[in-house]
Amino acid sequence: MLPRDFARDTSDILVTCPKGLSDSVRSEIAELGMAISGQFYTGVRTRGTLHDCIILNLSLSTAHHVLYQVLAQTCATPDELYTAVSSLDWERLIPLDTTLTVTSTVKTASITDTRYANLRCKDAIVDRLVSKTGKRCDSGPHRDGAVVHLYWQDELCILYIDTSGEALSRRGYRLYPGGAPMQESLAAGVIRATRWTGRTHFVNPMCGSGTLAVEAALMALGRKPGTIRANFGFMHLIPFDRNDFSKVLARFRSLEKTALGAEIIATDIDASAIANATKNATAAGVDSCVRFETCDFDATPIPSGPGIVIMNPEYGYRLGDVAQLPILYKGIGDFLKQRCSGYTGYVFSGNFDLVKKIGLKAGRKTAFLNGTIECRLYEYELYSGTKTSG
Ligand SMILES: C[S@@+](CC[C@H](N)C(=O)[O-])C[C@H]1O[C@@H](n2cnc3c(N)ncnc32)[C@H](O)[C@@H]1O
Repeated sequence: MLPRDFARDTSDILVTCPKGLSDSVRSEIAELGMAISGQFYTGVRTRGTLHDCIILNLSLSTAHHVLYQVLAQTCATPDELYTAVSSLDWERLIPLDTTLTVTSTVKTASITDTRYANLRCKDAIVDRLVSKTGKRCDSGPHRDGAVVHLYWQDELCILYIDTSGEALSRRGYRLYPGGAPMQESLAAGVIRATRWTGRTHFVNPMCGSGTLAVEAALMALGRKPGTIRANFGFMHLIPFDRNDFSKVLARFRSLEKTALGAEIIATDIDASAIANATKNATAAGVDSCVRFETCDFDATPIPSGPGIVIMNPEYGYRLGDVAQLPILYKGIGDFLKQRCSGYTGYVFSGNFDLVKKIGLKAGRKTAFLNGTIECRLYEYELYSGTKTSG
């Protein structure tokens, strides 16, 4: 059998994402011109090469991991798993100077502790390296080197190279997360759900650590979120070609806009939140694109529309004085109605009773999961004389 050419082989690619964001991931992959071969609640399937995985990692704003399939086989026991994993030419894939991490999703009768499956898988890879090269690579839990993901359901065993390593939601800019930050991939999915184009104003009162504003700035500039991150799993593979990567990066950067056509405004009542948000925006390289101010939400500057006003108020589970929240939500309704006409308003919340206090009639409602909390993005058309919910 000819050895695999990992630099050129086309294979199945599984792009995973937070629950409920697979429609976003699907459209992002389609926008890259790649064919979709399947979709489920936490992921989308496509096909491509390791080079395509680099494009996906740099481009996708709502995905978590880009998994490149290297093996699919039937295995009933840990010994069969060891034999199957050993059959792959890892010496052409995993460099000896990296740290190997094995992660897994395992649901099979012969395994009660998934750590044992990970261990057998890791041993098979390292033993293969030793038998072919006389040397072993290090292993560890941190996902900062080469990462192999084992999916083992019943007797179907699939091995992937996790070309992302650390989840893509960790862009690397959120150095100061503050109280209850939204995950970066969720923030990007929420903005995509508003259909904001980047060409109208984006106003984000109650911005907290600034995640929505930073993601908006990246989108408006056309800056691919992965281009601001330093480390990916694909960088720790033998076929990785740094010259090729630099060319892709340079091409993406050449497509970025140098200035915005509209304002991005982010405010919060808490001065330390604004300090954190400013530092995060600086780390993302978008601080000059966002106007940050410390103020009550209802004092937020609103340039004349069109645009969107988007708010993620506390909803009582992690932050917030629960007794005060109905008053806060009513105030949000008054603010949207009285100050934001000509805009489309959005409120992202996990407390549907509190949202009723806003007192405006919501149009579209989009469901999301924030961790385990079911949340919705409520849309309000704010023309003068906006309808109340009665
Ligand atoms: C749930 S957090 C927003 C989290 C944000 N989406 C992020 O990713 O970091 C809500 C924010 O609302 C702010 N806030 C609460 N009451 C406010 C008010 N009356 N005016 C302005 N901001 C307020 C809090 O300081 C907090 O930062």
